[in-house]
Amino acid sequence: MTPTKAPVQSPFSAEQEKTLLAWTKEYPYTNLGLIEALRSVQDWHRQVEPAAAARVAEIFGLPFNHVWGVVTFFPTFTQWRTGAQRVGVCHGLSCFLAGSNKAEKCLEKTLGVPKKRATADGKFSWEAMECLGACEQAPALQVNERLIGKATEESISQLKDMKR
Ligand code: FES
Repeated sequence: MTPTKAPVQSPFSAEQEKTLLAWTKEYPYTNLGLIEALRSVQDWHRQVEPAAAARVAEIFGLPFNHVWGVVTFFPTFTQWRTGAQRVGVCHGLSCFLAGSNKAEKCLEKTLGVPKKRATADGKFSWEAMECLGACEQAPALQVNERLIGKATEESISQLKDMKR
């Protein structure tokens, strides 16, 4: 007797599955919908784990390696769980020269976690990012894709008062 394959458990709710399916039909080019679908996954799970990428690949009818290649190429997608407030400090050249290393140390001390690790309550994580397009405000700081401005001890100390 041939063993039957166990059904793959989806890491998504029924509603989320519908959303992902809708992204397959949204654009004439599948890849455009794939990026949006992965952005949804990142929002829901605060990361894109391999099981989620595998299910997205199934839904889009793409090989897993193709989807995983997209996930690992774009820094928008993480393979670690971010905090609800995803703090980024730029470490591009202008920001490095303006003291991004000091800002990183300040973030670690203020939030109490190392880079790419969420706080125990899941509210914050921080990471170094590539040029945020705000070199005139170096070292630039952002929270959830919103530019905050210059990363100073003062602006970093105010992060914990921010509402999502
Ligand atoms: S190098 Fe940091 S914003 Fe451009």
